[in-house]
Amino acid sequence: MSHFAQIVRVPGDPILGLMEAYRADTNPDKLDLGVGVYKDAQGLTPIPQAVKLAEQRLVDQQTTKSYVGGHGDPLFTARLAELVLGEDSPALGEQRAAATQTPGGTGALRLAADFIAHSLPGRGIWLSDPTWPIHETLFAAAGLKVGHYPYVNADNRLDVEAMLTALAQLPRGDVVLLHACCHNPTGFDLSQDDWYRVLEVVKARELLPLIDFAYQGFGDGLEQDAWAVRLFAKQLPELLITSSCSKNFGLYRERIGALLVCASNSEQLLNIRSQLASIARNLWSTPPAHGAAIVASILNDSELKALWMSELESMRQRVAGLRLGLVEALQPHGLAERFAHIGVQRGMFSYTGLSPQQVQRLRDEHSVYLVGSGRANVAGLDASRLDQLAGVIAQVCQP
Ligand code: LMR
Repeated sequence: MSHFAQIVRVPGDPILGLMEAYRADTNPDKLDLGVGVYKDAQGLTPIPQAVKLAEQRLVDQQTTKSYVGGHGDPLFTARLAELVLGEDSPALGEQRAAATQTPGGTGALRLAADFIAHSLPGRGIWLSDPTWPIHETLFAAAGLKVGHYPYVNADNRLDVEAMLTALAQLPRGDVVLLHACCHNPTGFDLSQDDWYRVLEVVKARELLPLIDFAYQGFGDGLEQDAWAVRLFAKQLPELLITSSCSKNFGLYRERIGALLVCASNSEQLLNIRSQLASIARNLWSTPPAHGAAIVASILNDSELKALWMSELESMRQRVAGLRLGLVEALQPHGLAERFAHIGVQRGMFSYTGLSPQQVQRLRDEHSVYLVGSGRANVAGLDASRLDQLAGVIAQVCQP
């Protein structure tokens, strides 16, 4: 008897699969606008100088590789919580908010998902349509009932009215996942007015927000991007936030992130944290230490922090410039208006509005890789190739 013979093959992850297909492509003019990874003008994903310096310090000064605790490196979690919630955060000051270190932002989401499934049974989770594809599978894998609220309309524009109408009808007490900034995959962010309106509905329906904050610093700036998270943390006693250091610290493969919890009081926070430690023990036991030690050294040292902030700001500005550059490059093809939203969207991603067929043609005929939904990682572009990209987009847009 074979134990494994009946196991069927499932399709590979659509985003990670693109990385492999791109690597295997021998066309020297290929362009990778798939996975959400920042690239510099040379097409490389750089290690920030601040990270290099912090790593060197670790090599010189680290004295042990013994396990970190269940909630991770205390210096990392303390500094990261301040980065997210603000140094003057009332919730931190009242000791009713804290972070648990996780393997990447995805680990934080999984920890949140298992916490909801285990400790808040019966609560459904509501995701924007569209959202990051892993949100869909990850919460379902944890056994949660997944629903959707609209986010963009048929013309590929942010549809706040439809979103608010749907949120106002959600079952009382359910969890709503919101993207703090740099919405993945669309790049459309809520305005401050929109956030106030969402907050009102969240309060009225007594929803529990889970805010995914994977791109802090890539939208309008480190502090600006935290605006909505801090508003919610001030206005609501209870909140879940997932944070990632993959993009803003360039630490993708180190898998470093955190789940932050704001609770009504410090006693409740301790209860919740006991549950999180117990769930995490079954998932990954204790988190990987290296990325956390790097982030902690940077955030705890004013010089390294200043260097990192300026490096992050240059990455942010480069991506913002590429957005405008692409719209400009589409101008001679008569497509600037059709794609004007690329200049309005924020962060790495743009929901271009290209159809799956057009995306397929870009890949097959021009070795330009986008996610099938039409999502382009603008941070994968190179200013010297904007005209080339605009030209091939024009070709696949022809009727
Ligand atoms: C993306 O959406 O491309 C990134 O978040 C990377 C990933 O893991 O999918």
